Amino acid sequence: MGCFSCFGSGRGKEDLGHYGGKGGNGGGAAGLAAAAASSSAAAGAEAGAAVAPPRAEKFPAGADKARGKGNAGSKKELAVLKDANGNTISAQTFTFRQLAAATKNFRDECFIGEGGFGRVYRGRLDGTGQVVAIKQLNRDGNQGNKEFLVEVLMLSLLHHQNLVNLVGYCADGDQRLLVYEYMPLGSLEDHLHDLPPGKEALDWNTRMKIAAGAAKGLEYLHDKAQPPVIYRDFKSSNILLGHGFHAKLSDFGLAKLGPVGDKSHVSTRVMGTYGYCAPEYAMTGQLTVKSDVYSFGVVLLELITGRKAIDSTRPAAEQNLVSWAEAPKDG
Ligand SMILES: Nc1ncnc2c1ncn2[C@@H]1O[C@H](COP(=O)(O)OP(=O)(O)O)[C@@H](O)[C@H]1O
Ligand SMILES: [Mg+2]
Repeated sequence: MGCFSCFGSGRGKEDLGHYGGKGGNGGGAAGLAAAAASSSAAAGAEAGAAVAPPRAEKFPAGADKARGKGNAGSKKELAVLKDANGNTISAQTFTFRQLAAATKNFRDECFIGEGGFGRVYRGRLDGTGQVVAIKQLNRDGNQGNKEFLVEVLMLSLLHHQNLVNLVGYCADGDQRLLVYEYMPLGSLEDHLHDLPPGKEALDWNTRMKIAAGAAKGLEYLHDKAQPPVIYRDFKSSNILLGHGFHAKLSDFGLAKLGPVGDKSHVSTRVMGTYGYCAPEYAMTGQLTVKSDVYSFGVVLLELITGRKAIDSTRPAAEQNLVSWAEAPKDG
């Protein structure tokens, strides 16, 4: 199910450049993207300095150099950040050649799936041997690039056991690729809907474990990250599953920094996924963390009922899961 822009041109994604001008949160994702655009190598560190990112700090310039020793001249660079616990966070940059090698030239056998951003491949990194998921941007122009930057910056700054880990990225020429930890059990959507013959449905306990894991990821974004982050794309296809059905949120290209001070909301063009988007946000463009909580409720309904958020194959009254769940039932 693709993302939509209610009032947009149909291209699907919001123009982040509008945020500041529309009186929204001035320190929002556009600020991050703008900061990043002015810095090519250590984009995360630059943005961190610009907006006081969620629990991350910039290393002194010398420290960066010291880490890079012996790596000079190589195209691999590290943006060195520290999280709240003082752990070093490294957003690694890759060349296109390295990622082509990791995926055997983006061969079909490595193809995992395709979403709004582009195609996703399973790959193995040379050197470390780490298995990763590599997402290749297929959208032309500025919009995809901005989303790419927001994703890299957000995931460089946010770290939690229920958020997918960004191993690195590639911004080589026109190519834009994201490299994530590989999530062996795929997405929640893969386990809920249109199961291939022989694939077992999730049992009740596993469903509740996944809901709890996703909720912890959301709690971190809303209550622990400083400033809070509004995810804006909470849906079953963005909940990825590790061993033992450990849930992690993925896809932060639409995320926005939440309201600060005594502001209650952020004003923005409406973006999200049809069926998951909170109605008050869709109507007013006023975004709060509660918009994510609404989307969480939709996923919870999917988990409980096994139905899709939107299912156009059902009778009209049953196509929208929330409307169907609200309606009185016979018997
Ligand atoms: N880190 C990952 N590990 C394993 N599979 C992934 C990972 N990221 C995405 N995928 C898979 O790739 C496919 C496309 O994902 P994505 O581009 O995020 O699109 P969408 O969220 O719209 O489904 C999905 O089937 C998802 O399960
Ligand atoms: Mg996704």
